[in-house]
Amino acid sequence: AALAPKLEEARDDVMADTQLWADAADVPAQKQPLDAGFHLLPDRLLDELANRGAESEVARLKATADRLAGELGSVVVLGIGGSYMGARALMEACCHPYHNQAPPTLRGQRPKMYFEGNNVDNDAAQGLLDLLASETSRWGVVVISKSGGTLETAAALRIFLRKLHADYGPGELGRLVVPVTGESGKLFDLAGALGCTEIFPVPDGVGGRFSVLSAVGLLPAAILGLDIQKLLQGAVAMNHHFRNAAPAENVVMQYVGVCHALEAERGCTTRILSTWGKRLEALGLWYDQLLAESLGKQERGALPLTIVNTRDLHSRGQQHQEGVRDKLITNVIVESHERDALAIGPSDNNQDQLNALADKTLPEILSAAIAGTNQAYREDNRPTADLRLPRLDEHVMGQVLQMFMLATVLEGRLIGINPYGQPGVEAYKKNMNAILRK
Ligand code: PA5
Repeated sequence: AALAPKLEEARDDVMADTQLWADAADVPAQKQPLDAGFHLLPDRLLDELANRGAESEVARLKATADRLAGELGSVVVLGIGGSYMGARALMEACCHPYHNQAPPTLRGQRPKMYFEGNNVDNDAAQGLLDLLASETSRWGVVVISKSGGTLETAAALRIFLRKLHADYGPGELGRLVVPVTGESGKLFDLAGALGCTEIFPVPDGVGGRFSVLSAVGLLPAAILGLDIQKLLQGAVAMNHHFRNAAPAENVVMQYVGVCHALEAERGCTTRILSTWGKRLEALGLWYDQLLAESLGKQERGALPLTIVNTRDLHSRGQQHQEGVRDKLITNVIVESHERDALAIGPSDNNQDQLNALADKTLPEILSAAIAGTNQAYREDNRPTADLRLPRLDEHVMGQVLQMFMLATVLEGRLIGINPYGQPGVEAYKKNMNAILRK
């Protein structure tokens, strides 16, 4: 409660920073925006869909995605950092858990999706080339780079273009490569030279880690058959909630308030995002990047760390229960499951002594693990917070992604750190390029 006025002030700052805020009259006149800003992309994209129909970006994204899905068995998505982590988070959260291994019927007849250009790992790249060579269906590339000049992605594009050229000839490249990039730059120019017929923009002023709800995340999601309109609607609902709900009911402010208060008052500089389910791991990794790159500045900023439970109770759990008291654990809990619950079941071989638990299901065991872990932390006065998701689908993912992005910029404004740039990332790039060109 003590933080509420500061959070409200920081919300006004975020609204001042927010270009394309739905109703400019909401922005208090005395507020000074930062040089960079936060975009309301989901609102803008849905408005455009309503007003321009088939000519809108969302409709074009769907058309391209359906074309690729109809023609290709596999799509290689090239991109790094903010240009890939969101798409991976959406795939893991919303697709079949074994999408790439599953037969077409189990993956809704959509292509397999592989992520490359997010490292410079020779064995991994060669391994993917082996895989593509072993498949009978056609494949293509979605290359995502806002700047168009990121070495990891650009190098991978050269390598995969060579393979595409060898497999299908030069005439096909324009259809088999779909770039998502800024409105000028090296990739934009290359796309023109390749004759790419469909190019999607990363709007100016949208930083990579804030771009998941632009073509950067939406195109891969649509190729996977996800409902991108629902995704955008979830995000728009979160924008509305953030703007209108009072601090005590405002999930963005509550989250930032808890994180900030525990950091300031109890030294919780490590933020564990404790995801309860394998499908949330990539969402957590996306959030790790978002928080670290946005607020890890001026020798400040909490350390984000994603874990997946119950798996990591058997690895990091010991340290979280008895290690340094510098951690806030935020549980991310999905409250309902899409599939029928599997029970342990009775057995004539009761050597494992599980017949006593025969009627217990996996979701019941998970709930007991969550409650038991929270209780253990509580009894040792270790702080936890719960983020409860009603289910895991596109609408909820839209809400969650937008909530975390808003929370990050809100916290930046609250603590006086500009969340939008990432000047520190340039140092390694400069050195690497100098070393390579020597
Ligand atoms: O969040 C960011 O801005 C970065 O992580 C970028 O997304 C990443 O460096 C990739 O940049 P680009 O899309 O220009 O290749």
